[in-house]
Amino acid sequence: MLKFALVGCGRISKRHSELLGLNQIKNATLVAVCDIDEEKAKKLGEQFSVPYYKDMDEMVRAEQAIDVVSVLTESGFHAEHVINLAKYGKHIVVEKPMALTIDDADDMIMACQKNNCRLFVVKQNRFNVPVIKLKEALDSGRLGRLFMGTVRVRWCRPQEYYDQAPWRGTWAMDGGVLTNQASHHVDLLEYMMGRVDSVYAKGIKALADIEAEDTAAVILKFRNGGIGIIEATTAIRPEDLEGSISILGEKGSVEIAGFAVNKMVHWNFQEKIEGDDEVMEKYSVNPPNVYGFGHQAYYEHVVDCILNNKEHLVDGLEGRKSVELISAIYESMETRKEVFLRFKPQYCKLGGRL
Ligand SMILES: NC(=O)c1ccc[n+]([C@@H]2O[C@H](COP(=O)([O-])OP(=O)(O)OC[C@H]3O[C@@H](n4cnc5c(N)ncnc54)[C@H](O)[C@@H]3O)[C@@H](O)[C@H]2O)c1
Repeated sequence: MLKFALVGCGRISKRHSELLGLNQIKNATLVAVCDIDEEKAKKLGEQFSVPYYKDMDEMVRAEQAIDVVSVLTESGFHAEHVINLAKYGKHIVVEKPMALTIDDADDMIMACQKNNCRLFVVKQNRFNVPVIKLKEALDSGRLGRLFMGTVRVRWCRPQEYYDQAPWRGTWAMDGGVLTNQASHHVDLLEYMMGRVDSVYAKGIKALADIEAEDTAAVILKFRNGGIGIIEATTAIRPEDLEGSISILGEKGSVEIAGFAVNKMVHWNFQEKIEGDDEVMEKYSVNPPNVYGFGHQAYYEHVVDCILNNKEHLVDGLEGRKSVELISAIYESMETRKEVFLRFKPQYCKLGGRL
């Protein structure tokens, strides 16, 4: 039985605490919670009958049996908190986005490596039933060469959402729709289409009074030669409309939509195989909110990886990819130029390819 503790008892802690504290995850249990806001820590601790703390160091020292700490604090604090917790050698789950800068992501990866603890980044949408099915089709080559990938996030986040906490929508602690709400979809696009070569982006504040963008459009060029589009906004009114991904290949096309990448709405291949006709019905789910059901499958995966020493689907290096991609997108917005993700030597002869 793995013993989990939570750092951060805000909005998303409800999802984590209910799964871990109500025995929804096999071989996992909640043993302690912590928040600098003592009232929040107390409320959650009492709800699940576990000790609560105001200070994460005090918690980890007092509760020696903790195996894994889930970091659910504001995005801009993830690096500081993960690096601090790594020194205790506990495994760490960190909410998305893993970090706000590439340097922070690198420091987190190194701190965990140095202290022999595993770092798991929450990307629960990768565990959505239709997403797993699409990835399977891609890996088996059914779509052939991919030439276009699109994600759309059309969600509703009114001003009251941003006003709930002062960190929301700020450059220092959160970022805009791309870093927060759409970071799952940015991750999914790269997960399906492969690494990105360059990006060109525009962002605006359509409705929200925040520092960063609430609406963005991005054109991507992938290393495989394909292109892609990210359309992301939290300015849809009056309610969430869509969270979708479509992948087009030379031999087939797939689209997953719904409001949380939860419904297989298109599944079509030149070469049909048995079971194709049932995929749209069988691989669609109806989650109660935009977080989806993915956190459950995600935690089951984390527990399985730790107990059975398996490779994790979203470790630090994997989580770092979307931090790098999102940084490049913002760089493009600011510079109004296409931004390339990797340094590409033009004159260096090393390796003999030029
Ligand atoms: N995976 C998802 O779908 C999903 C959904 C929502 C939020 N998130 C992510 O979860 C994170 C938290 O979001 P939220 O909406 O719950 O924020 P929130 O503001 O509601 O909660 C953050 C909590 O962390 C606490 N905290 C800050 N510093 C602390 C410290 N040193 N020790 C202990 N507690 C500390 C704050 O007091 C606060 O209660 C963000 O990174 C966000 O992007 C992910």
